[in-house]
Amino acid sequence: MNVSTAIDTRMSCRAFLGTPVAQSVVRQILETASRAPSGGNLQPWHVHVLTGAPLAEFVELIRGKLASRPAGEGTEYDVYPPALHEPYRSRRFKCGEDMYATVSIPREDKLLRLVQFARNYSFFGAPVALFFSIDRRMGEAQWADLGMFMQSIMLLAREQGLHTCAQEAWAVWHRTIGEFLSLPEEHMLFCGMSLGYRDESAPINALRTERAGVGEFATLRGF
Ligand SMILES: Cc1cc2nc3c(=O)[nH]c(=O)nc-3n(C[C@H](O)[C@H](O)[C@H](O)COP(=O)(O)O)c2cc1C
Repeated sequence: MNVSTAIDTRMSCRAFLGTPVAQSVVRQILETASRAPSGGNLQPWHVHVLTGAPLAEFVELIRGKLASRPAGEGTEYDVYPPALHEPYRSRRFKCGEDMYATVSIPREDKLLRLVQFARNYSFFGAPVALFFSIDRRMGEAQWADLGMFMQSIMLLAREQGLHTCAQEAWAVWHRTIGEFLSLPEEHMLFCGMSLGYRDESAPINALRTERAGVGEFATLRGF
């Protein structure tokens, strides 16, 4: 698989098969992803990976808490800027509408939308879960490094026939996650990620999100 195909076929998978992923495959992905660049080669990323019994235990723990606290524990960072402005606001709206359309859930059906959203909290059935954290003393530049590391994982997953979904939805459970993973106090959770084999028959996985044209985000000079 070449890089273009990996990038083009990466999508946010929201329904996985239960098929396990071998530890050797996960290790290989992480090892290769660690070649991601970072300013000053700080390599500021930390990742915890769960599968099998610990994953089942964690999902069960969250399921128990979700009933009494559907909104979670609050986030340590703004997942979106407050009062999201254009054109970002419309993009976010469209992406949500397009996603719910794949599973025929209309805007008015708040309950079904919530049920669909809550699938985040079982990693959409994926057999592997990753949690990304970073030292609180790190700044914006190192968060960008963490993002590049995550994208590298998502692309390498494609090379292995796997799919992923990055999940900021986990940010609202940072306290429980921190305790479960025994994250050091100085580590801040950024997000989670589902990893596994895509359920090809799931309608939600048919979503192909839109992108702005190059002319909208790039300025090229001197060509
Ligand atoms: C850091 C990050 C966090 C995300 N969090 C979630 C999430 O919690 N739940 C979810 O369903 N999708 C999540 N997404 C997926 C985005 O909605 C998705 O990347 C975007 O709509 C573009 O679609 P695509 O990934 O299919 O190309 C996240 C993506 C990123 C990069």
